[in-house]
Amino acid sequence: FPVSVVLPAGGTGERTGLQTPKQFCCFLGRPLISYTIESFERVLWIQTVVVVVAKENIGLMTDIIQRFQHKKVRVVAGGSTRHRSICNGVMALGEEGKPKVVIIHDAVRPFVDENLLYQIAVAAKEQGAAGAIRPLVSTVIATTSEGYLDHSLERAKYRASEMPQGFRYDVIHQAYQRCTESDFEFGTECLHLALQYCGTNAKLIDGPPSLWKVTYKRDLAAAESIIKETLS
Ligand code: C5P
Repeated sequence: FPVSVVLPAGGTGERTGLQTPKQFCCFLGRPLISYTIESFERVLWIQTVVVVVAKENIGLMTDIIQRFQHKKVRVVAGGSTRHRSICNGVMALGEEGKPKVVIIHDAVRPFVDENLLYQIAVAAKEQGAAGAIRPLVSTVIATTSEGYLDHSLERAKYRASEMPQGFRYDVIHQAYQRCTESDFEFGTECLHLALQYCGTNAKLIDGPPSLWKVTYKRDLAAAESIIKETLS
């Protein structure tokens, strides 16, 4: 069944404190996002990868596609929030014949596990939505506005929601058509939109530690050593 990928890469990478957004940082002469794209291009049953970048980076992204000879990729302009960027990517997919399933992944998670992608794609096709989860490494707490502890969550009961996530095309398309401005502005969870606006309950699948997201400056060094290990 036809599967396409939306790869949001429209962020500015504020948390690394670097000038270059982390998805464009180079490792062994190749930008991080190029490793992520390549890992999807290797998967034969994936047809298209829509990369969503900030308007000012469209030229840069187009150069990367040419330089590293990416074949399955289209570039789309992003929005001011992650949801707006993903929505632009999903809407762009509809323009060229709808896929059955859309996989959403982050450009800054270059270590994509093909076996997990397959499980997510199949579960999404059968149940409408699916996502990868990991155990929490820290306890989640709510704080008061004065900076005191409000309450804490029982760690064993909760999971971190990771990427990839998969959706039947009609589910994610409808979720973005129905969701509110406030969801676009403050929300971060696509699985939540599918449940809230389409009544589609996501199948959750335990993922490997390599799903981790390059977020802080120190993650760049870790990513480089994993890339070196993978290539050697
Ligand atoms: O900020 P965070 O690390 O959660 O971002 C996850 C992904 O969403 C990144 O790949 C980032 O580039 C993307 N993003 C986006 N458009 C935005 C903000 C973030 O595509 N406006």
